[in-house]
Amino acid sequence: MPDLLRAHDSFGKRVFGFAFHMFDLAAYEVLYRLSPARRMWFFNGGYLPVDPDFTSYPEFAGEDHSAMMYHQAGHTMVKDYDPAPKSILDVGCGQGGGMVYLSRLYPEAKLTGTERSAAAVRLAKRRTRPHIDATIERGISGGLAYGDASFDMIVSVGAPTYFGLTLFIEETGRVVKPGGIISFSGGYRQGDHDHVEGEIREAAAREGLEMLSYRDITPHTFASLKADIPRRKAALKRVPWPFSLYAHRWADMPGSPEYDEYEKGLRTDFAAVLRKPA
Ligand SMILES: C[S@@+](CC[C@H](N)C(=O)[O-])C[C@H]1O[C@@H](n2cnc3c(N)ncnc32)[C@H](O)[C@@H]1O
Repeated sequence: MPDLLRAHDSFGKRVFGFAFHMFDLAAYEVLYRLSPARRMWFFNGGYLPVDPDFTSYPEFAGEDHSAMMYHQAGHTMVKDYDPAPKSILDVGCGQGGGMVYLSRLYPEAKLTGTERSAAAVRLAKRRTRPHIDATIERGISGGLAYGDASFDMIVSVGAPTYFGLTLFIEETGRVVKPGGIISFSGGYRQGDHDHVEGEIREAAAREGLEMLSYRDITPHTFASLKADIPRRKAALKRVPWPFSLYAHRWADMPGSPEYDEYEKGLRTDFAAVLRKPA
């Protein structure tokens, strides 16, 4: 959804993409403070249909499609590897809904969230407190502020592309424990899966990580986007002009170049799982 980065571009477009990316990060501060996102648990585009073993919790009413992204990363993608994490890090935890969902999947695990937006850190702390005893900290640019081999499992939904996949893999590969799993998802405009999967595979190999799986999830994220249009329309009505113009694109609404790219098959949304050998 809000990822305006493009994979595979010319130098000029990359510079423009970087400026846009920086703008996006500032936009997150504004959105987490002033937009309808303040009242939501998640800030991802979602995944539909939900899996048969997805659990719909009353707290997340209206946001099952977004909670499903965490079910996907925390359960569907990793269940074959029988994870039993005692510690989980959510990178880019947003408002904290993902940590609450993960706590239901793994009740024994200690949850930690890192989030670059100060407004989101405050929201996540307030939101999660009645549900879980999580540690939520402000993230740093260019890395993860945790020691080597700190977590049994790392989950990240929508944040890895903001780091850049190579840096994300270097850093998560460093802070995950031997035998631990890194399960993540993200999306690029005008990317292609060979390129994205290749970057993940190369970075994983350099860090000594096994690449367990890679999936194109674009049909599911597009299905979620289409189903969520009425809710997004209602939310956008409350956004004042001129912010509404940007928000229309941010929300990938029909008529935006972002929606057009989904329709034309130019969007590259993916999920991947890596493991550090024991
Ligand atoms: C698409 S949102 C996803 C939020 C949440 N994971 C969810 O699915 O609801 C991406 C999040 O990554 C955060 N982010 C971006 N760069 C980050 C960094 N270096 N460290 C921590 N969080 C970061 C953004 O502030 C934003 O909240």
